[in-house]
Amino acid sequence: MPTPHIAAQEGDFAADVIMPGDPRRAKLIAETYFDAPRLVTEVRGILGYTGTIGGRPISVMASGMGSPSVTIYATELARAYGVRRIVRVGTMGGAQDFLELGDVIAASSAHTDSAMAARRVPGVSFSAAPTFSLLRAAVEHAETAGIRLHVGPIFTTDAFYQPENDTVAKLIAMGTLAVEMEAAALYTVGAVEGFQTLMVGTVSDHVFKSEEMTSEEREKTFGRAVEVAIAALQS
Ligand code: ADE
Repeated sequence: MPTPHIAAQEGDFAADVIMPGDPRRAKLIAETYFDAPRLVTEVRGILGYTGTIGGRPISVMASGMGSPSVTIYATELARAYGVRRIVRVGTMGGAQDFLELGDVIAASSAHTDSAMAARRVPGVSFSAAPTFSLLRAAVEHAETAGIRLHVGPIFTTDAFYQPENDTVAKLIAMGTLAVEMEAAALYTVGAVEGFQTLMVGTVSDHVFKSEEMTSEEREKTFGRAVEVAIAALQS
């Protein structure tokens, strides 16, 4: 049962998984929101926990950074552990002027420069998109809870440090809300393996304004995205 990158046993994961990039955030989410969380895997420090929320089983596991990493963990969770829904929670670089630090974004599509998506269907520009029912549940929760949630396209890039070109500027001009590094790969592997996906992110910095959150602010505002992700998985 253990896979090359996950050391859990059969039944250790719930069908629903929250997936932050950072392993410490996985631990924090489990300890803050789960009842009776237990550690189920820690290969390479990528922590995974399972517990319950409102009596319903739920897991959290980190993805590491970037499209190859999230694709490995999501593939193994779906193929070996019966995972059916993964909601990524993470930080994003805001790309539109109206976005404020701490705003929450649900990605209704994800453009990408990553070969992880480009290689799936040669000759086709695949539309990486989330599962509508999860997106709808996220939007409904945000409306009810009074959380400022933006819904729109984002850019999933392999390069945190962008080369000197106008790629991001062009995508911003075409309405792209934010930049991050995993969503398109998650949406694509979900389509390939047949599980449901969504990305909910917090704006932690701005790609063309010199605004950035302190780590304290990140922790505080990150909770809103987690709350939206949990609500989507409670639907
Ligand atoms: N994640 C958070 N901020 C980011 C940025 N500016 N670029 C890529 N990924 C990010």
